[in-house]
Amino acid sequence: MEKDIAQVLLSEEQLQTRIRELGQQLAQDYRGKNPTMVCILKGAIMFYTDLLRAMPIPLSMDFMAVSSYGNRTKSSGEVEIRKDLSTSIEGKHVVIVEDIVDSGFTLTYLTRLLQTRGAASIKLCTLLDKPSRRAPGITLKADYSGFEVGNEFVVGYGLDYAERYRNLPYIGILKPEVYENA
Ligand code: PRP
Repeated sequence: MEKDIAQVLLSEEQLQTRIRELGQQLAQDYRGKNPTMVCILKGAIMFYTDLLRAMPIPLSMDFMAVSSYGNRTKSSGEVEIRKDLSTSIEGKHVVIVEDIVDSGFTLTYLTRLLQTRGAASIKLCTLLDKPSRRAPGITLKADYSGFEVGNEFVVGYGLDYAERYRNLPYIGILKPEVYENA
């Protein structure tokens, strides 16, 4: 796996330091609100478990798995729900936890969907943000964001290429020959 990585973009230490800051910020903002923390599988799993351990307040956990319909660049950004929440979010303060916001379609869709279910509030927390990749017409902004990244192909710490590299403890830039020769 390591041989396919051109460069470590964010080390374990950099990730953990920033995640502790985000956890403290969220704990401050959500103290007494018992938020429902929604993990968007699979990419966000590593971030989610570290983030929640950095939040010393009462909270609930829930999970969703989604995938985009067909060609994301041509679609309206509609996503298919592969696994839905197992609890009601009516009247709840919801924080959606993502690994990366790219075009912004997934989170725009999810935010609207969860709004229709009567959440008291919905905020977005992403580890990585690629603002340069936002699709035209998408105005989405994360409320909590770990790092802004450029247009590199990033893997590790939950993020995959063809389901690989998710278990790297850092975020690295994938060598182009890995996906160009696939
Ligand atoms: C990634 C990521 C977001 C979405 C972001 O998920 O976890 O859900 O893409 O892209 P967008 O801003 O362009 O909508 P992916 O579909 O790769 O699934 P995974 O998390 O299971 O790897």
